[in-house]
Amino acid sequence: MNLHTLRLSARIFASGWTQFACRMRHAHLHVAVLVLVLAACAELPRGAQQSAAVASAHPLATAAGKTILERGGNAFDAAVAVAAALAVVEPYSSGLGGGGFFLLHRASDGREIMIDARETAPAGVKDSDYFDSQGRPIPGATTRGGTSSAIPGTPAGLTHLANRYGKLPLAMSLAPAIRLAHEGFAVDVRYARIAKLRESFLQSGTGTAVFLADGKAPEPGYVLRQAALAQTLERLARFGNAGFYEGAVASALVETVRQRGGSWTTEDLRAYKVVEREPVRFTYRGATITTAALPSAGGIALAQTLGMLERFPPGAVGSAPTDHLVVEALRRAFHDRARYLADPDFVAIPVKELVSRDYARKKSADIDAAHATRSEALGDIDSARVESHHTTHLSIVDAEGNRVAATLTINLLFGSGIVPAGTGVLLNNEMDDFSLRADVPNAFELRGGLANRIEPRKRPLSSMTPTFVEDEKGVLVLGAPGGSRIVSQVLLAILEYLRNAEVDLERLVGMPRYHHQFWPDRVEIEPDSYPSEWRAALAGRGHEIREARRAWGNMQMVFKSKDGGVARAASDPRGDGVAWY
Ligand code: DON
Repeated sequence: MNLHTLRLSARIFASGWTQFACRMRHAHLHVAVLVLVLAACAELPRGAQQSAAVASAHPLATAAGKTILERGGNAFDAAVAVAAALAVVEPYSSGLGGGGFFLLHRASDGREIMIDARETAPAGVKDSDYFDSQGRPIPGATTRGGTSSAIPGTPAGLTHLANRYGKLPLAMSLAPAIRLAHEGFAVDVRYARIAKLRESFLQSGTGTAVFLADGKAPEPGYVLRQAALAQTLERLARFGNAGFYEGAVASALVETVRQRGGSWTTEDLRAYKVVEREPVRFTYRGATITTAALPSAGGIALAQTLGMLERFPPGAVGSAPTDHLVVEALRRAFHDRARYLADPDFVAIPVKELVSRDYARKKSADIDAAHATRSEALGDIDSARVESHHTTHLSIVDAEGNRVAATLTINLLFGSGIVPAGTGVLLNNEMDDFSLRADVPNAFELRGGLANRIEPRKRPLSSMTPTFVEDEKGVLVLGAPGGSRIVSQVLLAILEYLRNAEVDLERLVGMPRYHHQFWPDRVEIEPDSYPSEWRAALAGRGHEIREARRAWGNMQMVFKSKDGGVARAASDPRGDGVAWY
């Protein structure tokens, strides 16, 4: 281990240890964590003047990205490798059974595009899958079992990214993930904790015993092998989309989903297509921001909140007068989300108008610096639903200046709880991101309008917000999981990045978070995050403050400076990810 490695280890150790220590009850787990952290860092020595960087939620996924860059791959190949590795080592968050968005910047021609690999509702969806004969929502219909899963997009996203933008063959970029699935990997404390949390869900799911050790949540250090997943990844590597969306894998997926009450057909899988979409692009106080397009609501929410805030003098996140304004902007942006936003291929949405300065001025005209607006005063929404608790983000820049910000998910922890036999593919429960009815909040307590109702082949509205920020300092690539709280996380980080001349990535990924989403009408804060004077100052303006039981998010960030092109990276101390640069 060289000096740089030691320094990196110490830094990660310092930022992560306090959190680990708070979470851990047993001393032997501390030792296990220490060993895992040091092992991960030993694999990832830090370059003195590195021009490439990778940040992901797991050291083995970051290592896969680094390997691919070292073998001559570009940021797009590395993103394939990292995303595929995350599918293996973080199966509760993302995977081949899910979907997501890849935001790309290609250095050679400046092309910027979002690959929309979001899942789609099967063609055979019907109201009776989700409502009983009295018209009441069926509990769990969108969160577990066959009716909760939408047709996966991630496999098609990976093949598209590799074939259209990568330099290396898909098989080469998938190789690290195949090895991890085949040979197994030692589960970390995070895996053990999440498996424990979802133990009974995994015990009662279909094929989900693969994530347990003899029917129980494994201890850290247990070697998890996923032979069937390795085989599916190999098929994808050899046959491209046909290896997943046709043939034996497709038939197995359809058969199991139908047995568990869903309506999938092999035609649904064959028909799946990624869509290249123009990202949302806007400027804020001179910086250019490029971010997610619909069917994510995240980019529009970011444009709207920043547009509203631009009217006020800039202030520090963490100072009550500024935070009050941020909350008011979030309240208004989430109100629009609930009313208007949905899959743009199904619903006409005036995006240009919604993100315009004119609209921001109108929408923020009634923000009162001294008093909170009641959400109900903004007007009702016509119908609704929301997001959930696991997902992953990766950020990459390479030496050529290519960039990727990708947020990928299977929605809630361990998705629908279905792993069709012989595939190793854990299916998503993304149907929960549709709006069943305005008065029925989803797992993220989001409510939404008719625009986002379930329809055949439609993509559910998302909050995932992979983003690039360019200013005179350089370019920041960022994103995070956290359902509806993704938007506020990215917003707070951008506000602080732009306010400071110094770029302190560790501070940006670690800073305490707050959130507002129109409904419920309250400001949510992370535990032990804001002092009593701050709370009193917000309460004095009429806000209800609610301290959440846990911190949220797992932000992954890379930065490349304008002068010199030096790359750096940081992983959220709330997670166990590792940044390499
Ligand atoms: O697309 C969305 O917005 C959600 N399905 C994302 C879920 C998520 O971030 C869960 N993470 N904690």
